[in-house]
Amino acid sequence: MKDLDLNFVRSQFYAFDAGNPLCQKAFFENAGGSFPCKFVVDKLTKFYETTKVQPYGHFNGSIEAGEEMDKSIVKLAKLLRIPTNNLHVGPSTSQNTYVLANALRLSKTKKNVIIVSNQDHESNTGVWRNLASQGFEIREWGVRSNGSLYLDDLKNLIDSAVCMIAFPHVSNIIGQVNPVKEICAFAKEVGAFTCVDGVSYAPHGIPQINDFNPDIYLFSSYKTFGPHLGVMYVSDELALELESQCHYFNKEYPNKRFTPAGPDHAQVSALGGIYDYYEALSNHHLNRELSLDSSINEVNGLIAKQEKKTLRPLLDFLKTKRDVRLLGSYETEDRVPTVAIVTKKSNVALAKQLNELDISVGVGDFYAVRLLEALGVDINEGVTRLSFVHYTSGSDVEKLISGLDRYL
Ligand SMILES: Cc1ncc(COP(=O)(O)O)c(C=O)c1O
Repeated sequence: MKDLDLNFVRSQFYAFDAGNPLCQKAFFENAGGSFPCKFVVDKLTKFYETTKVQPYGHFNGSIEAGEEMDKSIVKLAKLLRIPTNNLHVGPSTSQNTYVLANALRLSKTKKNVIIVSNQDHESNTGVWRNLASQGFEIREWGVRSNGSLYLDDLKNLIDSAVCMIAFPHVSNIIGQVNPVKEICAFAKEVGAFTCVDGVSYAPHGIPQINDFNPDIYLFSSYKTFGPHLGVMYVSDELALELESQCHYFNKEYPNKRFTPAGPDHAQVSALGGIYDYYEALSNHHLNRELSLDSSINEVNGLIAKQEKKTLRPLLDFLKTKRDVRLLGSYETEDRVPTVAIVTKKSNVALAKQLNELDISVGVGDFYAVRLLEALGVDINEGVTRLSFVHYTSGSDVEKLISGLDRYL
């Protein structure tokens, strides 16, 4: 397989343009939010400059605005290989899960057990746990001492009353990729719906949602080189069960059912820029038009290869540091480059020292408090998180390693 052309990749982001203050930085807080690609920023700018009026009207500007928004939705659905009717765009993933939990609360389901994990970011666990006060029974699929979730443990929680299993595709702390296809297949076998938080996975490979067969799949486009929105897939089967959350007269519009708060029109119109970026990657590396059946998988493969290549030296380095605890695996298999460490130092002090060297890292609990507690991490201190994506260069990682070596 070819290598990703990093010069080409970085030329697609304003953040890396010479003269941009961000370009001086080795940026390792990508799991918090990635840089948006130029296609997205350009679309956003154009919308605000030329069509920022109420869309879907019958006058110039409004017509173009609606058309741009529709085009974006079609492109995004193509990228994910799902029908547009199953694609919903809300303000954020947390907002989307909040609405879905309300939709489940008001549904007429006879099953009343929800399984949640303690590996999730709070957005895909708290909203479901809150339904305990509404007649639902909550069962926790707990991580083992290494922070991982095991299917055998899930199997022990299952009976015919389980209506929903909520779990992450990837943990935003240990970076582990869960066997989502296997878990969703198991859930189907036992008649349960699944809600998969793909936020930490999607930046590392555009999810081909039908390959996993979930009922809900969520991710945040501001972490996939796009605008600040929450994207979700809801299966037809589940959409029929859930009570709609929109104005009563909009119930018949599948895409309005679970997004009561219409997101920023300009950002919706910019979503299509994510597709354009992947298409550019495909055309540049594979020398042909993005054929959605095959080349997106190849592009995802190039991205994964690049990420594993840059991740390896960091994991090797961390292994040599006795006083550093890595949460998660030292192997690059089945993990993404989201690397959380616990050190003997204050995380904030370390982040400030690294900032002096133009290295940006994340600090805190990243709303994965339950996981950190399960792993015995001091919640007040949290972790230092070093997260990168495919545009992160080998020299950025070298800079990070030398900074860490100096201060740890
Ligand atoms: C794994 C994971 N899930 C969910 C979320 C929540 O996403 P949003 O900020 O779109 O609500 C985050 C945010 O950081 C996350 O990392």
